[in-house]
Amino acid sequence: MNGNLTFTMIKPTAFKNNSAGAILKMINEAGFVIKAMKLTRLTPELAGEFYAVHKARPFYGELVEFMSSGPIIAALLEKENAVEDYRTLIGATNPENAADGTIRKLYATNLQQNAVHGSDSDDNANIEADFFFSKMERF
Ligand code: CMP
Repeated sequence: MNGNLTFTMIKPTAFKNNSAGAILKMINEAGFVIKAMKLTRLTPELAGEFYAVHKARPFYGELVEFMSSGPIIAALLEKENAVEDYRTLIGATNPENAADGTIRKLYATNLQQNAVHGSDSDDNANIEADFFFSKMERF
């Protein structure tokens, strides 16, 4: 392996504003290598499981509803310093606070529909990748 891994989801936002291709282009141009990828749709149960860490938060119900409202792209990305570099590329969780030129600044609709998810640690990158990908689906 040439670097570290991070996990991303391109959220249903990107299928409402047709930005999935542009987001993938930004990911490649920033030097991330795609190690696994799938277009899929989460059921409410699976979206709830993925975001279980936020279960007690007031926005949990809406988050689960939104994340199961349409297709997503799940992807495992490799790069040196992947987790931190990807969080820099996507920008702040709330697009209003995201730096110019970041994925969320360019393509997010609002805090909930913020275009992409990115792992917050190496451990979570592995946990999140295991949620979506078997060994046979990783390259
Ligand atoms: P994500 O990186 O996918 O991780 C959890 C998601 O919850 C986050 O992006 C936002 O889309 C959403 N989120 C976080 N805080 C709030 C909030 N205060 N209100 C609504 N949604 C939120």
